[in-house]
Amino acid sequence: MKAKITINTLDTIGDIDPRIYGSFIEHLGRAVYGGIYEPTHETADDMGFRKDVLELVKSLNVPVVRYPGGNFVSGYNWEDGIGDRAKRPRKLELAWNSIETNEIGIDEFQEWAKRAGAEINMAVNLGTRGAEDARNLVEYCNLDTDTYYADLRRKNGFEKPFGIKLWCLGNEMDGEWQIGHKTPQEYARLACETAKLMKLTDPTIELVACGSSAPTMPTFGEWERTVLRECYDHVDYLSMHSYYGNTDDDTDDFLASSMDMEQFIIDTANICDEIKAEKKSDKEIKLSFDEWNIWFHSKEQDKQVKPWQIAPPLLEDIFNVEDALVVGCLLITLLRHCDRVKVACLAQLVNVIAPIMTETGGRLWMQTIYYPFLHCSVNGRGKALRTVCECGTYDTKNHSNVPYVDCIAAANGSDITLFAVNRSADESCVLELSGFEGYSLVSHTVLTDEDMKRCNSADEPDAVSPVQQEISGEVSLVPRSWNMLKFTVK
Ligand code: AHR
Repeated sequence: MKAKITINTLDTIGDIDPRIYGSFIEHLGRAVYGGIYEPTHETADDMGFRKDVLELVKSLNVPVVRYPGGNFVSGYNWEDGIGDRAKRPRKLELAWNSIETNEIGIDEFQEWAKRAGAEINMAVNLGTRGAEDARNLVEYCNLDTDTYYADLRRKNGFEKPFGIKLWCLGNEMDGEWQIGHKTPQEYARLACETAKLMKLTDPTIELVACGSSAPTMPTFGEWERTVLRECYDHVDYLSMHSYYGNTDDDTDDFLASSMDMEQFIIDTANICDEIKAEKKSDKEIKLSFDEWNIWFHSKEQDKQVKPWQIAPPLLEDIFNVEDALVVGCLLITLLRHCDRVKVACLAQLVNVIAPIMTETGGRLWMQTIYYPFLHCSVNGRGKALRTVCECGTYDTKNHSNVPYVDCIAAANGSDITLFAVNRSADESCVLELSGFEGYSLVSHTVLTDEDMKRCNSADEPDAVSPVQQEISGEVSLVPRSWNMLKFTVK
């Protein structure tokens, strides 16, 4: 099989906002307790954060981390997580049927984020709470005034404001599973008034309004239109969430999941522009794809988890090779739309549908999906180039005209990096590269395996890991592989 890939270094899609490589830590399962925080672990630092986890998070170069949820935030009182730890309440956590000790709250998390080299994308509770609590939190985090909440932060030991720039107006408020679920009208009004108070408190912040929790939501479209009609002038981004899974064990179909993501982005951007035209506005609403990943492996086992435990193992999907290829395609899709998608968060970062797994009290390891994320986050910076790929296609149960090769090129200074997935089960793909004439190929990194179901584990942490392909005259992508090709100017 052959594919012709054409680029023109002057034909860019747009600047890649580094925040497209964001991630997410929710108070859910073992993400916080037993994940990033474990004071009795042998690698724990002075605040009880696992240094081994911090080092791996840093290696991923994650610029922004969404916190504290997720579904969790819709029942959360942020005041429970500040001040004297001995006095913090233990609470029933209704989103995940767990017990929340509040040992970690914003005071500690902002310190972890600093140590991880990441900013925070902070979500406020618009499920059980509202504008008043949200604006108090903005004051607590960001203001230097001599007023109650800024003083409270100082009293708690934090003289300087945390300086949190990006804020989410609630989480998945369109979902009936959400604590405090709202109709489009209810959410639109609440989000608008909350946004106004938050921006009056700190006009420098950026706000993300909730879009749909999935393109399959019955209110998709109506939700976005209603929210934007109400909030357009007060928000900067609209959120999108989507999870994918190989529930039918049909790998060809699963590998085409990114086509659903692509259509979701196109449709959501079109709706934003429809409201822009309606309002005769100059402002363009950008997209924050602040939850995306594969999530299906753990769904059955999670039904067996007993309620009211502290940090029970939840959503601990163990990812295999085909999952890594899908994550690669999803990253390629986000890059192809980097003119519109300015923030994206891989959900999540540690233990919960995560690239990094830990044993509580023990080892850690990288899942298969760690690698495509690492490759893109470290190398996919600069500008995305319009990348045309002429290749054969196939059809599946849910998708037609699926290109065998999906790819995108990123240009950064004198380097071009091409990310590519060969979806074919049995054919290698020889690349004809056009537009790369002034460049030479310096490395070709490949992730693949003859067994698409192979996973990493604490005992076999390197069962699946990338290898360097020898560079010869011909560039070829082996069947079902994730590839990163680095070129530099001759
Ligand atoms: O990331 C796991 C969960 O998925 C989040 O809490 C929620 O927002 C979504 O449904």
